[in-house]
Amino acid sequence: MRVLVVHGPNLNLLGERQPEIYGTQTLAEIDAALMQEAKHLGIELRTTQHNAEGAIIDALHAAREEYDAVIINPGAYAHYSYAIADAIASLRVPVVEVHLSNLAARETHRRTSVTAGSCKGYVAGFGGRSYLMALRALQEIVKS
Ligand code: DQA
Repeated sequence: MRVLVVHGPNLNLLGERQPEIYGTQTLAEIDAALMQEAKHLGIELRTTQHNAEGAIIDALHAAREEYDAVIINPGAYAHYSYAIADAIASLRVPVVEVHLSNLAARETHRRTSVTAGSCKGYVAGFGGRSYLMALRALQEIVKS
């Protein structure tokens, strides 16, 4: 099983960026934990981070043929990018949306995700663990 993880804008700054909200784990640490869990689960994993909306869409298009599942944290694009929602909807493989913070407990403009509705499911509020939970869930649903 091959899984692509797409990290969206500003997530390259994790660790330094608003640690009171997003925690102190860096993106490299989140990726290392994901790689370790993927190895344990027998999953082939690749991670990528893009700040630009178009680059995220290109990564999703490229995933159409190459991966069995996708995990995406669209960052702030989750709140308004219909273009990313459409790109997710174009995939035939399951996509799980992930957020470090619990969007339901945040500012009003962050409580809606326009991209989550195109996904198979959604994990938010567990910091870097949100990604690991998404990976385990995908392994269960793809294998069954
Ligand atoms: C985030 C939540 C978004 O509202 C924010 O813009 C981010 C991070 C999260 O993982 O909690 O960049 O996607």
